[in-house]
Amino acid sequence: MKMTGNTIFLPGGTSGIGLAMALRFQEAGNTVVIGGRRPEVLAQLAAEHGFDTVTVDITDDESVRGARDAVLAAHPDLNVLIAMAGIMVAEDVRTPEFFDTARRTVETNILGPLRLIAAFTEHLQAQPAATIMTVTSGLAHTPLRITPTYNASKSFMHMFSESIRLQFAGTSVQIIELVPPGLRTELMPGQSQVEAFLPLDEYIDEAMNLLAANPDATEILVERVKPLRFSEVNGAYDQTIAMVNSHH
Ligand SMILES: NC(=O)c1ccc[n+]([C@@H]2O[C@H](COP(=O)([O-])OP(=O)(O)OC[C@H]3O[C@@H](n4cnc5c(N)ncnc54)[C@H](OP(=O)(O)O)[C@@H]3O)[C@@H](O)[C@H]2O)c1
Repeated sequence: MKMTGNTIFLPGGTSGIGLAMALRFQEAGNTVVIGGRRPEVLAQLAAEHGFDTVTVDITDDESVRGARDAVLAAHPDLNVLIAMAGIMVAEDVRTPEFFDTARRTVETNILGPLRLIAAFTEHLQAQPAATIMTVTSGLAHTPLRITPTYNASKSFMHMFSESIRLQFAGTSVQIIELVPPGLRTELMPGQSQVEAFLPLDEYIDEAMNLLAANPDATEILVERVKPLRFSEVNGAYDQTIAMVNSHH
């Protein structure tokens, strides 16, 4: 994708990676509309940074369609969808609470991006150059013991991204998969204090540089995520699982 002159919808832009990326894209000369469930946070970010905003809950069909209509009415030239919103919740399959967490994770991390993609595809295909960015994780390829459904939701989105890229081949729509490693955000409570994780700013620098340097990128893989991304094919699967799980 080009790095400037886009109009971007970024649900999941109220904190963490999404907010950091929204700021970088805005600085680089793009129009960014951020989305999330909390109107008060959206209002504050609009006042502070001049973002256009829309309230959206990606687990809800009607909310996503309403957000789509609002965003496109205000920005008929929208050409980038970044499906950033996601949750990561610890669970234990051996307990009765497991299924509630698993269902919530699937509804947010899998059905959420699929809802967004379904809602925006017709519009994006009509643009001369469009991008759908999906957001997975190194954990799509190397499992963290405490979050089975999260890991699997990201594997799903990896393969889904690979697959729809084939369907969009020859159209104006490009599929880019952002594959972050463990970062210091509050995705899980306390995660931003974990020294073993990459500081958010360092990650955004490296990821934005990769995006800029590779306009036809399929996956954005910073150095830190490569051991996880390729563990199963590079012969270090067991050691990588041990390394990843030693932080928890
Ligand atoms: N941080 C990491 O280590 C890491 C690593 C790999 C992948 N990722 C992925 O990166 C993405 C962003 O994570 P983050 O670390 O930036 O975490 P974060 O700070 O918790 O951000 C999550 C964002 O998603 C939004 N969100 C959650 N549920 C939503 C829903 N139902 N509808 C609409 N918005 C929703 C939140 O906004 P509201 O609360 O305002 O709704 C927030 O803006 C996630 O997909 C995550 O899986 C993160």
